[in-house]
Amino acid sequence: MTDLLLLPGDGIGPEVTAQARRVAEAIAPDLSIAEAPFGGISFDQLGTPLSDDTLAAAKAAKAVLMGAVGGPKWKDAPRDKRPEAGLLSLRTGMAVFANLRPAICFQPLANASSLKRELVEGLDLMIVRELTGGVYFGQPRFIEDLPGGGRRAVDTQVYTTAEIERVARVAFDLARGRRNKVSSAEKSNVMETGLLWREVVTDLHKREYADVELEHILADNAAMQIVKNPKQFDVMVTDNLFGDILSDAAAQLTGSLGMLPSAALGVPGTPGLYEPIHGSAPDIAGKGVANPLASILSFEMALRWSLGRAHLADKLYAAVGAALEKGARTPDLGGKLTTVEMGDAVLAEL
Ligand code: NAD
Ligand code: IPM
Ligand code: MN
Repeated sequence: MTDLLLLPGDGIGPEVTAQARRVAEAIAPDLSIAEAPFGGISFDQLGTPLSDDTLAAAKAAKAVLMGAVGGPKWKDAPRDKRPEAGLLSLRTGMAVFANLRPAICFQPLANASSLKRELVEGLDLMIVRELTGGVYFGQPRFIEDLPGGGRRAVDTQVYTTAEIERVARVAFDLARGRRNKVSSAEKSNVMETGLLWREVVTDLHKREYADVELEHILADNAAMQIVKNPKQFDVMVTDNLFGDILSDAAAQLTGSLGMLPSAALGVPGTPGLYEPIHGSAPDIAGKGVANPLASILSFEMALRWSLGRAHLADKLYAAVGAALEKGARTPDLGGKLTTVEMGDAVLAEL
């Protein structure tokens, strides 16, 4: 059985994943590691971004580490064959509905953010993004021609009680092991899904999690509060689209988008999907300067959440911190290290 399946993907995906692989081989040499085609490169080779074989391998592994997918090369691919569509199918195929996106500011990077040091120093925010529902998947969705000229596009935002409750449960459980506070972000003032979201979270809280502090916040205000005073938050739970946007904003608090890992989890006992939250970065792909830490930290989350090796995760986390402490910086963090040299810096600390 494969412990860790790598899906390097496109653009900087293979560059950063190669460093996570080096780290994995060093810290846990007994892990069995396999690789499979995914994303644009899979579309080029096999005519589909996610082949049946790759999905089957993902479901059979203990953990999957994805790099990044997409890029200008596939902008004219049929919509359902685009690399990004493959990623959405992978998430639903693996049924990983809870996406943990931790925005943690490592102490040595407190000056690397575009926000003032005192706002981000010590930041430890966990965004829990619903990942397999909402407007990303709701039906109907289409673009149609209008009889009088022009076109009309439709996306559908849809959530059920069960979908909201299971992701909220993950957020409450996480909060209990942290600072015991959940902020639930939606637009209940204008959206029906937001209204249901607020009701379901309130109800679950009353029934099972009354010991956890719960606040409801409108998603637009949440975006503002994330850049005004991010340390007020502990765990933020939100839907698929708001979670996508709020987590990119939160990433910048940590110094760079290249710092933010993620873990997508399904029901216990099923494999997790680990991925940096950044994309394929076409502007720097092939230059060897991408920051591999989001990928390395995604592997760190895999050690913790899927591979049952929390002690190794702690060790790896400390090694990343120590490398940053000694000044290791890729260009996105204001330094000059290449992707491989950042990998070297982490390996040296291990
Ligand atoms: P992006 O995240 O690829 O890049 C945004 C900016 O951040 C760019 O300037 C990029 O150079 C920089 N950046 C991102 N990761 C970095 C890293 N590790 N080190 C240093 N700098 C980094 O977002 P985009 O440009 O909007 O999207 C490019 C492509 O990636 C699109 O096709 C998009 O659909 C896809 N995408 C994929 C994923 C994924 O696979 N999970 C996530 C987001 C976007
Ligand atoms: C992310 C990405 C993806 C998303 C895209 C590439 C499908 O932006 O993982 O944050 O929107 O979920
Ligand atoms: Mn995103």
